[in-house]
Amino acid sequence: MDTFDAIKARRAIKKFDSTYKMTAEQVESLMKLTLLSPTSYNQQNWRFVTVTDQPTKEKIHVAARNQAQPLDGSLVILLCGNMNAWKDDPMRYWKNHPLEKQEHVKEAMHKKYSDSPQNRRDEAMRSCGFAGQTIMLAAKQMGLDSCPMVGFDYDEMAKIINLPEDHLIVLMIVVGKAVSPANERGGQLSLKDVVFENKFN
Ligand SMILES: Cc1cc2nc3c(=O)[nH]c(=O)nc-3n(C[C@H](O)[C@H](O)[C@H](O)COP(=O)(O)O)c2cc1C
Repeated sequence: MDTFDAIKARRAIKKFDSTYKMTAEQVESLMKLTLLSPTSYNQQNWRFVTVTDQPTKEKIHVAARNQAQPLDGSLVILLCGNMNAWKDDPMRYWKNHPLEKQEHVKEAMHKKYSDSPQNRRDEAMRSCGFAGQTIMLAAKQMGLDSCPMVGFDYDEMAKIINLPEDHLIVLMIVVGKAVSPANERGGQLSLKDVVFENKFN
């Protein structure tokens, strides 16, 4: 599928075919593509919990205020941020490059993140945002649909996925086969409402 077509065809699906199951190979190729998403300093600070197990999906469905998508979708992905990725063996993020580059990035990340929980959190949000769009567009290319979601009880979800202390959940994405198309678009703002040439008015 052409990228422009995938962008236009991606919609937040509410009803998935509960009989459709992705194969382990499909899940793996989707996640391999996801790992090509950009992250600042290439720190790859996202962590993904992929759920296909039905009893776990049922628990997630309850934590998601009984929304149907995690119950009926084939794959539920929790996109999480690791707040300590910046200091967790950071040389590996540039292992294909000379030592000098690896050390430069390590120092730069230390400067940006060591004293700033806000910067660490912001970075998790940015990285998971990009990864989320990769997941949803790649799913379209695979003939699948998706729904991004944050309508869930955070603490309950953290328990279900055994979230480590130094991680946070950014969002959930359900992937599967739509049984009915998305509702009409809510109504997009116009270019003039949101795009400003050179500076805000
Ligand atoms: C961060 C985020 C959280 C969302 N949470 C939910 C949710 O909990 N349940 C749901 O049905 N849709 C959820 N949505 C879907 C939005 O309502 C949907 O993306 C928006 O209305 C635009 O529609 P479209 O994605 O079909 O273009 C969420 C979307 C985003 C980006």
